[in-house]
Amino acid sequence: MSAIRTALLTLGAASAAVASSHDTLKSCLKYALTDSGKVAFPGDLLYQASDVQAYNLDIPLTPAAVTFPASSQQVAAVVKCAADNGYPVQPKSGGHSYGNYGLGGVDGAVVVDLKNLQQFSMDSTNWEATIGSGTLLRDVTQRLHDAGGRAMSHGTSPQIGSGGHFTIGGLGPTSRQFGSALDHILEVEVVLANSSIVRASEKENQDIFWAVKGAASGFGIVTEFKVRTEPEPGTAVKYEYTLKVGTTEQRASLFKQWQAYMTNPDLTWKLASTLTLLEDTLIISGTFFGTEEEYKALGIGSQFPGTNSSAIVFKDWLGLVANWAEDAAMELFGGVPAHFYAKSSSWTPQNLMSNETIDKMFEFVDSADKGTPIWFIVFDFEGGYTSSVPSTATAYAHRDVIIWLQSYTVNLLGSVSQTQVDFLDKVNKLVTPTDVPYAAYPGYVDPRLDNGAEAYWGSNLPRLEKIKREVDPDNVFRNPQSPQAA
Ligand SMILES: Cc1cc2nc3c(=O)[nH]c(=O)nc-3n(C[C@H](O)[C@H](O)[C@H](O)COP(=O)(O)OP(=O)(O)OC[C@H]3O[C@@H](n4cnc5c(N)ncnc54)[C@H](O)[C@@H]3O)c2cc1C
Ligand SMILES: *[C@@H]1O[C@H](CO)[C@@H](O)[C@H](O)[C@H]1NC(C)=O
Ligand SMILES: *[C@@H]1O[C@H](CO)[C@@H](O)[C@H](O)[C@H]1NC(C)=O
Ligand SMILES: *[C@@H]1O[C@H](CO)[C@@H](O)[C@H](O)[C@H]1NC(C)=O
Repeated sequence: MSAIRTALLTLGAASAAVASSHDTLKSCLKYALTDSGKVAFPGDLLYQASDVQAYNLDIPLTPAAVTFPASSQQVAAVVKCAADNGYPVQPKSGGHSYGNYGLGGVDGAVVVDLKNLQQFSMDSTNWEATIGSGTLLRDVTQRLHDAGGRAMSHGTSPQIGSGGHFTIGGLGPTSRQFGSALDHILEVEVVLANSSIVRASEKENQDIFWAVKGAASGFGIVTEFKVRTEPEPGTAVKYEYTLKVGTTEQRASLFKQWQAYMTNPDLTWKLASTLTLLEDTLIISGTFFGTEEEYKALGIGSQFPGTNSSAIVFKDWLGLVANWAEDAAMELFGGVPAHFYAKSSSWTPQNLMSNETIDKMFEFVDSADKGTPIWFIVFDFEGGYTSSVPSTATAYAHRDVIIWLQSYTVNLLGSVSQTQVDFLDKVNKLVTPTDVPYAAYPGYVDPRLDNGAEAYWGSNLPRLEKIKREVDPDNVFRNPQSPQAA
């Protein structure tokens, strides 16, 4: 028999084996999701457009199946079908992972779309809320409001899912005051790799609880969160200082002023701030949670001479949250699927950028070929409550970060070009501190990172790898950068 024929026969046998495992998977899932649940497979009508719905168009994926369970029991049944047949599993909540990790991040995963898990209740004796993990942030805000004027920290994009957001960090305008979204979690219900449904908290399954608060996608599927809530913040001032065009020196000087003002350790936790660089514009914006008089007393205005400024006073929380969703960078990017690439970097109070590095950054940014006019770099001021929690308390490790960088490049016409990627890489290289291990935000997934897990979970990675060995030794729950069993 010729070598070619042998090779063809082997290939044929392998694809027959794949076909039969896919048939077994199919019948198992169809049986698991008979009544209210639903399942879709490649080849089904509108599979990509209505069932898969990739968010980052640069990473097209074909999952082996997309399932829509309607209960924790159905989630468990789907996990069992996938695990028994050797398929990786990823849950999808809002589907806003930059690497399409809610779809598995590579072809051939079984996707557990959680959109039917919408349970909500409020215990008005202690103001603890129970939230189904398919709930989008816009509905979290509305339901907490309706249940007694309550709130919790989370990001500003209403289309993000609580499942992927509460489990990786979840930073937003109130996180300096109340902590990140995951700091609100008191208990979860989670489906494990062996398809058991368990509850995890400080009292039971502590290791799983710890891992879920920062790295859940490699450990299980959270079906329900129990969270602490806060009274909605009352009056708040939304401020903005803008410099249109401006010289490189003016821009660098504003950045230095911003960094110096915000990193003062005595600054109130009620102040949130972001500095955004767009093509031709620098924007310093944020929210102060207090009255207009208190805001004026902070004297921020005098810090940023030569800018156009505005301040809007909000008395109602829902109005403020709706306004956040309209921010400039969000409008460019927002909830619409696009071809894009993003990176992150960070600074602690001990390794902030020097004046010299800031000058170099602006010289580079103002002269580089970016390959697109649609790019932006966001510097998020953090610290406060998020830094008051020990870095070993939850899987989320980067507690000491005071400024996060997020950079984005978008192509509306097709795939992101190498020039676009190079621009973000070079900015990161210029600004990232070299005296400590590189720290990336696990919520801004960067699929091009070689050592993603180290960058996302830092010093907490060894413990995650140990827990992984105990609860998911066969790596059922995985994406290209999730922790591996030690
Ligand atoms: C426009 C936009 C704005 C953003 N703004 C912010 C911001 O202000 N602050 C911030 O912190 N982040 C922000 N992010 C990042 C965002 O928090 C992450 O992308 C988040 O992981 C998205 O969650 P998702 O449920 O929408 O995505 P998905 O793609 O559904 O999930 C993301 C990851 O979480 C896993 N996952 C989802 N549900 C569960 C579950 N129930 N149990 C276990 N694992 C689960 C998935 O498998 C996947 O690996 C923003 C993202 C976008 C696109
Ligand atoms: C302030 O706004 C005016 C009117 O829009 C504009 O012409 C001017 O360039 C702006 N100045 C700065 C510093 O951004
Ligand atoms: C950095 O620049 C700021 C503003 O220009 C200045 O006030 C500060 O003294 C400089 N810092 C150092 C260490 O030179
Ligand atoms: C499932 O896995 C968990 C975590 O490892 C373990 O505690 C539990 O006993 C397992 N359940 C079954 C039925 O094997």
